[in-house]
Amino acid sequence: MTGFFIALEGSEGAGKSTQARLLAEWLEAAGHSVLLTREPGGTDVGEQVRHVLLAPGAYAILPETETLLYAAARAQHVREVLLPALAAGWVVVCDRYVDSTLAYQGGGRGLPLTALLQVQEFATGGLLPDLRLLLDLPVNVGLARRLAGPDAVNHLDRAGVAFHERVRSAYLDLIAADPAGWAVVDADGPPEVVGKRVVEVVAERLPMSPRADSDGLTRDDRATVVETR
Ligand code: TYD
Repeated sequence: MTGFFIALEGSEGAGKSTQARLLAEWLEAAGHSVLLTREPGGTDVGEQVRHVLLAPGAYAILPETETLLYAAARAQHVREVLLPALAAGWVVVCDRYVDSTLAYQGGGRGLPLTALLQVQEFATGGLLPDLRLLLDLPVNVGLARRLAGPDAVNHLDRAGVAFHERVRSAYLDLIAADPAGWAVVDADGPPEVVGKRVVEVVAERLPMSPRADSDGLTRDDRATVVETR
C-alpha cells in the first residue's frame, strides 16, 4: 500500500464536507493524486444504502440494522474504491469512516464497542486510516450551524442534543484511549481558518512528496476523480 488514507470525522455541523473538499483541492494543487470520497456512499451500491439510511422515513431503523447498513456500504467502498486508490499511491480523503460508527452507533445509540469493532473488522478487512482528523466543535454550535444551513436536515440532526453530546464524547474517548494516528482540529471559525488548521496538520503528517508514489494517471484523470463526489 503506497498511498495515504485520511479520514475526516466530526459531529453534525462541524463543516467536514467543506473541509474535505478544501483539503482535496489543496492536496491536488500540491501535486498529489487525490481521491475525495464519503461514507455512507462512495460507490453506486453505497449511495443506495445512504439513501435508505438518511431518507426522511428512516426513523424506524434499529441501531443494529443501522450499523450493518453502514458496514455494508463500507465493505463495498473499501474493496471497490479505497484499496485500488491506495494501491495506486493516491492520497484518499474520506468524509467519515469506521470511527463514525464507533461514535454514532456506539456512543450515540449505545451499542457495545466490542461488537461494533468485530463488524468493522469484517467490513473493512482491517483497512484503517493513516490519519484520522476530528473536526471538533461544541454541540450547540454545530447543531445551530446545521439547522441554519442550506443542507437538508436528516433524522440524525434531530436526534437531540444529548445524543450529539454522547457522539462527541465518544470521539474524544476514542482519541484519549488511543491517540496515535489522530489529530483534533478546532472547527470553530470560518471555513478558510479551519481549512488552514487542517492543512497544517496534514502537511506535518503526510509522508509522501507530491507525485513520488502516484501511478501514471494524467492530471485530467485526477481532476475528474475529485469532481465525481
Ligand atoms: P451526512 O449528511 O453526510 O452528515 P454529515 O455532513 O454530518 O457527515 O450524513 C451522514 C450521517 O450518517 C451523519 O449524521 C452521521 C451518520 N453516520 C453514522 O451514524 N455512522 C456511520 O458509520 C457513518 C459513516 C455515518
